[in-house]
Parts: sequence; structure tokens; C-alpha cells
Amino acid sequence: MIHSAPAWKRQAYSIAAMRAMARAALPRPVFDFADGGAEDEHTLKRNETAFATIELLPRPLNGTSERDLSITLFGKRLSMPVIVGPTGLAGLFWPDGERCAARAARASGTAYCHSHGSVSTIEQLAECGAAPRWMQVFIYKDRGFTRELAERAAQSGYDALVLTVDNQLIGNRERDIRNGFSIPPQFGLAGLAGMALKAEWLWRMRREIGRITFGNYVRPGEASDIKMVAGRMAAMLDPTMSWADVDALRKIWTGPLLLKGVLHPQEAKHAVDRGIDGLIVSNHGGRQLDGAPASIAVLPAVIDAVAARVPVLLDGGVRRGSDVVKALALGAQACLVARPQLWGLAIAGEAGVAHMLEIYRQEMSRVMGLCGIARIADIGKDLVFSQFIDGRQP
Ligand SMILES: Cc1cc2nc3c(=O)[nH]c(=O)nc-3n(C[C@H](O)[C@H](O)[C@H](O)COP(=O)(O)O)c2cc1C
Repeated sequence: MIHSAPAWKRQAYSIAAMRAMARAALPRPVFDFADGGAEDEHTLKRNETAFATIELLPRPLNGTSERDLSITLFGKRLSMPVIVGPTGLAGLFWPDGERCAARAARASGTAYCHSHGSVSTIEQLAECGAAPRWMQVFIYKDRGFTRELAERAAQSGYDALVLTVDNQLIGNRERDIRNGFSIPPQFGLAGLAGMALKAEWLWRMRREIGRITFGNYVRPGEASDIKMVAGRMAAMLDPTMSWADVDALRKIWTGPLLLKGVLHPQEAKHAVDRGIDGLIVSNHGGRQLDGAPASIAVLPAVIDAVAARVPVLLDGGVRRGSDVVKALALGAQACLVARPQLWGLAIAGEAGVAHMLEIYRQEMSRVMGLCGIARIADIGKDLVFSQFIDGRQP
């Protein structure tokens, strides 16, 4: 059964509502693969609760009827400071999931970041016209493969390269263990029983399941056996990654180069000193180091360390337009949203991701209006209550 558009959209009135709908639509192991974090999920929870503790101090007498959410980032105009972040295996949530999400981002006027672990390849994503498009990579034991991915991204006209630095060892995701979910996806008995209850997803994915693989890792002419490809992928990650690797990538990639997964202010400063063009403050959504602070909690210290030399972006628990406004008030240029795109895909594919982005746009616009702010450039530190109070202290 296909949802009639108004019905599902009415139900999907917030990102939290979309998560609940995705939970109902997806087999438990698939939902948990996206929703879960590492170990006790302290960091996962912190990401969202830290936003809740930040208070906004409005000035409603700066009344405005029109709000302009657009920004310029790395020379590209975006209609709002919300970017679709990289998530591996988006194609597990909806057929051709990555290209659906990328098309929705383009239609919304924002950027899409393609994950190394996507089902579709660098080239297939570029062919769908996603723009602006960013490519996310890792440092591999075979440094030649990192170079190869960067070169393929350059050849396919990607606008920026994102080096994720917090995933060289895979976090201990206990929901996946409990559900018997692994990469490649293998479902335990309970998982299989749960799947049978998710008939719509099963029907939609019936031809896809057998074809799902990590497209970027399949060699030309090779059969795309996910087991073999996934094994190769995990074995390729190099935990001995160092600054020399960052320098080497800097030499290869001439366009904007961002580091994703930076939390320590000194690492942030060091990265900028070495010629990095942007930072994504991120704890990988609590999927890697459980115990890391919330991204929004470390943002002010990173902003101080970087001293406005490069754009600083943030992800992790951004679930409301007001969260984006808070991050911008604390110095970020934009936020990335990752899980919400998977909820959008699970509910309605491309239309679901477009709807998800529209929720952020409308919520941001309303919050800015309530705060008496017409333009992104007018979002300042003093919008955050605690910063306002601190600023007044002698
Ligand atoms: C299912 C899933 C897959 C992910 N895959 C990647 C990836 O391939 N590369 C990457 O840099 N981050 C990956 N991430 C991390 C996200 O990009 C993001 O940092 C994190 O989820 C926090 O954002 P969120 O709270 O909006 O989900 C993944 C996250 C999820 C949930």
C-alpha cells in the first residue's frame, strides 16, 4: 500500500514523528542499525539533550515578515544551513536511497555528502546531478585507494572532499549485536521474524536486497558480493592514521577539504594550520566513542580555537530548526543531518527526504521570526541566554 501524500505528510509533522514512522516501517535490525549508538549510548543521548539545555533569548520587537535562510559555503549558495550528511547503506532504507536523498537535497537547494559506504558509486551519484555534492572518504592501509577515491570524486565534479577521522576502528554497537545485524546485513532468527511484519519494506526492497553492496569498493568487472566487499572494506581502515595522511590528502585534493569527527579544540587548530578548509564537529552520532561529549557542547571551544579562519560545521542530534539556530548562534556555519534523511527515505523515498528538509526550513524560519531575526548573518552569540549573561559580566 502506498501512503497518500497528504496522509503521511500530516503524520510526519516533526523529525521525531518521522523517526516514529520509520520505526514502524522498518525491520527492527535495520531501524536499530541507523538509530543506535555505541555501548551504553551515553554520547548518542547527550547529543540531543545538550541542545535541550540551551536557551534562546528572543527580541520580538525586531519584527520581520520575511526571513532569508540562505548562506554561502565554499563559494556555493545554499538555500539554508542544513546539509544532508553521509550515511553508509542508505540504499537499505529505500531502493536507490542515496540518489533519492541527493535529488531531494538538490531540489531543496542544499548540499549532499556521499558516504564512502554508499550502495551507489561516486559516479552514479554524480550522474543524477546532485549539486553541490561532497564526497566522504577514510584513510586506508592502501593509501593508493584513498587517492583513487579522491581522484574519482574530482573526475566526477564533486565540490568538496570530507575526510572522516573518527571511524578508523568500528565502534561497539550493541543493538546490532543483539539483533544479529552485521555488515554485510545478516539477520538472526528474531530479526527474520521481525522482517516478516514489515511487508511494505520487504516488498519494496525485494529486488534490491540481493544487489546491496558497498558500490565504491567493487573493482571493475568484479561480482559485487557484499560479504567479500565488506570484509575488504573493514580490513582496509588504518588505525595508525596520522597528520601526515592529512597532509598527503591536502596535496591530492585541490578543492575544499574538510575533516569530520574533530572534537578536540587543539586538533581543530592544528587542522587549520595544516591547510584544511573546514571542520565538521562530530562524534559520529554517538556510534563510535561512547563517552565523547555532545558535539554542541564542544563547539564553542572549537570556534575559539579556529578563530574564524575556516567554516566550522556541526552534526549530532540536530533534530529541530531551533537546534540549527543554536549551533549557528554558537559559531557554526551550518549543520549536517544524517539519521533524519534515513527516516525520510524509509517513509517515502525522495519525497520523504524533501519533506524532512522542509521541516527544518519551516522550523528555522519560525524560530528566527520568534527571535526577531531576518537573516542568518544576524544570528549572534547573544541569542544564547547563557552567552548573553556571560557577555555582561565584568
Ligand atoms: C546508518 C549510519 C551510517 C553512517 N555512515 C557514515 C559514513 O559512512 N561516513 C561518515 O562519515 N559518517 C557516517 N555516519 C555518521 C553521520 O554522518 C553523522 O556524523 C551522525 O549520524 C550524526 O548525525 P545525526 O545525529 O544527524 O545522525 C553514519 C550514521 C548513520 C546513522
